[in-house]
Amino acid sequence: MSKVEQFFDSYAGDFDAIYGTERSLMNSVLNPILRKSMRTRFDRTLLYTRPMTGKTALDLGCGPGHYATALASDGAERVVGIDFSQEMIRIARDRASSLGHSDRCDFVVEDILEYTPSERFDFSIAMGVMDYIDGPDQMIRKTLSLTREKAFFSFPTSRGLLALQRRIRYLSRCPLYLYSRSQLNALLGEFTPHEYEIEDIGRDFLVTVSIR
Ligand SMILES: C[S@@+](CC[C@H](N)C(=O)[O-])C[C@H]1O[C@@H](n2cnc3c(N)ncnc32)[C@H](O)[C@@H]1O
Repeated sequence: MSKVEQFFDSYAGDFDAIYGTERSLMNSVLNPILRKSMRTRFDRTLLYTRPMTGKTALDLGCGPGHYATALASDGAERVVGIDFSQEMIRIARDRASSLGHSDRCDFVVEDILEYTPSERFDFSIAMGVMDYIDGPDQMIRKTLSLTREKAFFSFPTSRGLLALQRRIRYLSRCPLYLYSRSQLNALLGEFTPHEYEIEDIGRDFLVTVSIR
């Protein structure tokens, strides 16, 4: 088991709680900037994939399934969520079941880089995942090869105090990869003719790649 997998398996419940509205200890101590960026990327991804009716989506590093189930609520025909943490997938399946979306949400326990589906998806989403991927070009290439319309990624910024604090916090957790805008331009430039847009949303860059 990799350090990333180990970390997220033990952190799954607390990560899920970040999305909650209840005043848990986790919610009150979490950095408000982190939560703001998570909310912004969630809201914008849902906005950019609408209308979702009849479409399909792949949620890479789906965690507890908030994106997958929200896309199903928006009318997705089918959503596949993939994550190598068993515990994250257990929570995601429970969420889909309690929302009545189990028939349209499939969750797979696997490493993204080893996942080889036979289908392509209208949209692909990799939110909060590039932070932990060693070899982002391989991950982007794979994601784009599985996507028909648009792929959405978040990349954590390397600038500022929050990034420094994160670097320190993750020393004892697992490897963490942060990006500057110029690094992102160099990375995404490798994937022409696909077009990309980078939005600065605070703690993260939100990247949309349109398949050409
Ligand atoms: C910060 S969480 C984000 C979850 C979800 N995308 C969200 O934004 O709510 C990152 C997730 O990516 C998963 N992950 C990281 N690297 C992965 C890999 N190589 N294969 C599968 N899952 C991975 C972790 O297990 C974790 O659940």
